[in-house]
Amino acid sequence: MLEVVHLLGVALLLGNLILLEVRVFGWGAALPVAPLARLSLSLAAAGFALAATSGLLMFGTQSGELLANRVFTAKMVLIMLAGCNAGLFHARGSLQSQDRIARALLLLSSTLWLLVLTCGRWIGYV
Ligand code: HEM
Repeated sequence: MLEVVHLLGVALLLGNLILLEVRVFGWGAALPVAPLARLSLSLAAAGFALAATSGLLMFGTQSGELLANRVFTAKMVLIMLAGCNAGLFHARGSLQSQDRIARALLLLSSTLWLLVLTCGRWIGYV
């Protein structure tokens, strides 16, 4: 059940971030960015909360093994980097400017989250 909740959180997080990203890159130009961002970022935040809560509960079932697992460590570092990237994105008003740096930060964001997802799946194999 925890894995199901975890994957639901991952789907909400990545799905909504990618939706906003493609809008900033110019797809669906009829959709206003500000209300779309409010909706998609709220759902993405809810997804992260689900993934983090279920992830911490799964961590509690095998914490010793996971602390010794390098892929798990890499995943936690990547989550922190993705958080810093999101903070920088919003602190510089990227949603308003939608400039080249904003687009670069969005690409970096989806790359980091995809690496988090990859590490999550990889943990069980090392
Ligand atoms: C604080 C946040 C998180 C914690 C503590 C956490 C922890 C965990 C743990 C303990 C597992 C089980 C590993 C195993 O025994 O095989 C796992 C699996 C996984 N995690 Fe996370 N996770 C977090 C956030 C995320 C996020 C944000 C993503 C994706 C963007 C993600 C993607 C995955 C995936 C794809 C799996 C494999 C699920 C499966 O094979 O069924 N995790 N995570």
